[in-house]
Amino acid sequence: MRLLIAVLLVVLAAAEDGSRAWLRYARVPNASSYRFLPSSIVALNSTSSSPIYTAGRELQKGIRGILGTHININGTAKQGSPSIVVGTVDAYQKIYGDLDEVEDLAGDGFFLSTEGRNVVIVGQNERGALYGAFEYLSRLGQEKFDPVAYVSNPHAPIRWVNEWDNLDGSIERGYAGPSIFFRDGYVVDNVTRVAEYARLLASIRINGIIINNVNANPELLNSRNIEGLGRLADVMRPYGVQLGISLNFASPQRFGGLDSFDPLDPKVDAWWANITDKIYSRVPDMAGYLVKANSEGQPGPLTYNRTLADGANMFARATKPHGGIVMFRAFVYDNHINPANWTADRANAGVEFFQHLDGKFDDNVVVQIKYGPIDFQVREPPSPLFSTLRKTSTAIELQVTQEYLGHQCHLVYLAPLWKEILEYDLRADDKPSKVKDIISSERFKRPLGGSAAVVNVGTNTTWIGSHLAMSNLYAYGIMAWDPSVEPDEVLQDWIRLTFGFDRQVIETMTDMSLKSWPAYENYTGNLGIQTLTDILYAHYGPNPASQDNNGWGQWTRADKDSLGMDRTVKNGTGNARQYPPAIARMYENVETTPDNLLLWFHHVPYTQRLKSGKTVIQHFYDAHYDGASVAQTFVKQWESLEGKIDVERYEHVRFLQTYQAGHALVWRDAINQFYYNLSEIPDEAKRVGNHPYRIEAEKMSLSGYKRYAVSPFHTASGYTAVITTSNSTIGIATANITYASGTYDIAVNYYDLIGGKAQYQLDIGNRTIGTWTGDLEDRLGHAPSIYLDGHSATRITFRGVKVNKGDMLKIVGRPDGIEPAPIDYVSFLPPGLVD
Ligand code: GCU
Repeated sequence: MRLLIAVLLVVLAAAEDGSRAWLRYARVPNASSYRFLPSSIVALNSTSSSPIYTAGRELQKGIRGILGTHININGTAKQGSPSIVVGTVDAYQKIYGDLDEVEDLAGDGFFLSTEGRNVVIVGQNERGALYGAFEYLSRLGQEKFDPVAYVSNPHAPIRWVNEWDNLDGSIERGYAGPSIFFRDGYVVDNVTRVAEYARLLASIRINGIIINNVNANPELLNSRNIEGLGRLADVMRPYGVQLGISLNFASPQRFGGLDSFDPLDPKVDAWWANITDKIYSRVPDMAGYLVKANSEGQPGPLTYNRTLADGANMFARATKPHGGIVMFRAFVYDNHINPANWTADRANAGVEFFQHLDGKFDDNVVVQIKYGPIDFQVREPPSPLFSTLRKTSTAIELQVTQEYLGHQCHLVYLAPLWKEILEYDLRADDKPSKVKDIISSERFKRPLGGSAAVVNVGTNTTWIGSHLAMSNLYAYGIMAWDPSVEPDEVLQDWIRLTFGFDRQVIETMTDMSLKSWPAYENYTGNLGIQTLTDILYAHYGPNPASQDNNGWGQWTRADKDSLGMDRTVKNGTGNARQYPPAIARMYENVETTPDNLLLWFHHVPYTQRLKSGKTVIQHFYDAHYDGASVAQTFVKQWESLEGKIDVERYEHVRFLQTYQAGHALVWRDAINQFYYNLSEIPDEAKRVGNHPYRIEAEKMSLSGYKRYAVSPFHTASGYTAVITTSNSTIGIATANITYASGTYDIAVNYYDLIGGKAQYQLDIGNRTIGTWTGDLEDRLGHAPSIYLDGHSATRITFRGVKVNKGDMLKIVGRPDGIEPAPIDYVSFLPPGLVD
């Protein structure tokens, strides 16, 4: 029995369910070649809520895992025996005397030395020391054993994450299960997972977390929840992660019972001061507030004809005495603008709403700006607001959450996208003005600045729904600390820590990840047109028509002859003028606008020639074929790693990559079909609309099935699918196979809706090739759909099936709930071919 328990413990300890992320502390292959290991850890603060105490424990745990050695933690160093000493500068110098190197330490910075007899880890503050400990462990975990001594300082003081969790436990744009913070209206009782998350965040030097949705519920402010906030802060404090909350601007009225929420009304001001004091008495180190006001239906100061600065400063006054800050979001726009107005432009909103307020914000206010002028699209220029606000502290808002980029079901390594934005030189006053230097406050010499990323972890053991997507969270933290790092280097550190040292694993995963953003851009929306996802529903699958003719302002302005937003000054919305002159000139002129933003700034004919020599429409067609074919190679690349990665993570990633490969084809065909239909310009390579390997379900003999016109039309091959005639009728679709006898990969495209688990059986001749269930809603985290559309469209493939000409193809579909066992088409693919 004991043996069994021991075996079980080992198995459990080794479970690779993703929960340990990059903090696995796996034994390194050459542990014995690390010769300098001290025999004790000296943590210069033994209070259990102190990050120094945490650092000591973490070092002990990490070294045990990585090197297989147990070391004790002591209050002081033993005479004569080398130690790892971890503490603040002050604590260290009191005991060990002056340390010259620490003169350059900035807030949260650390000094790490492995050169002397002792390993020295000294933080400017306690949090910095913990960062140093994680850095040391990261080095050991990657076998970076060479002696080093260096100071590391953050690029910017604000390095936060934003969770969009609702009090009922759901998460806005969350793809990994329900909230770890809230349930049924209140903060959860069990906060273990929150502590684990704080640990992950600390290891990538994130120092603040907003735990609730920007679309905030005022009930967060009730007494039970304030007590809950205290509990959350208590478990995050040992990791140096400060808690903050999103506020609902109308709380004084909706929750406090006042008759107003006017920021210049003294009783409103007093109400906020009072509730803020109450929260700080339970969470004395609260980071501050995040506010979304007058945006997408949220209340704000404009209701009372007050300015956004009046609104922000009200919170600034309340938090100032406590040292808190206010992140005020620049995502303010009118979502009812008139599409018939050629000069209207949502991209102008940020500058229009905030420019005249520059200098009017209190010094503990930071304006938090999404990286592009619209909304986390696959390609956007940086927001012109970064170069507009000179007397205001700013932070960049990024999204680890892949809201418009495949909901973590598509591999999209985002660090290269962020890098492009951060390194972008906006040339304010014709001087170097990189976005990264603006948000760090270096360029305009502001008191605060930094970054925030929407993350949306859930209860799923993988944290965000996919093992590979965690590289984005890792890279976000590392880049917030030091934006000069290269995306491939960050990635490889992450791979070594998460998956080990095998060269093939590192090379393959690097290759896949670095190809992933361009591939996704290629098979979704190119040339700056945006992602072309369905912006009115799930933000997931293709629906380019959803962008236009509504008030949301994510327009593509596609018509029969032309497409793109004209953002020029001479003829369009004037958005180009919001950039400093050198940049404005570049974007004003179609010749000097880079191809990848052509349709962001210009409205051009489909026949416009790009710098590559291709026409816009042919580029669309080619890019969609290229991008989708790269997504197919990810499956093979991943499968080449079988046996080199634990089964649990291998299988999960394989499942997701296979799914992505199928959905990339859905994207490719939908977008190409849509623009072909609109422009009537054929694909030079004759691929679009021409699918010789497909048998359309609607053309098969049907019994219990009926034809169904799918909407949007372009999300079905031939615009039509089949569904069962009722939700209790079994459908049978048959056809004679006319392809030459041989071996084929057989792909079935079908729709997997939420609200039912239909069952399918595929027969060839009298052999059953496979059965499957429409249960992707349980296996994928993406926002599900109740319709046959671009979100629910998917593919299953049976490889290497022997087929004889004349065999009968038969699919039997059993509906379930509202899922009528929908089928789009069946492909017979000669090996190696993807139709
Ligand atoms: C997007 C997103 C919303 C979110 C909003 C925001 O529009 O779809 O879910 O609330 O951004 O950032 O406030």
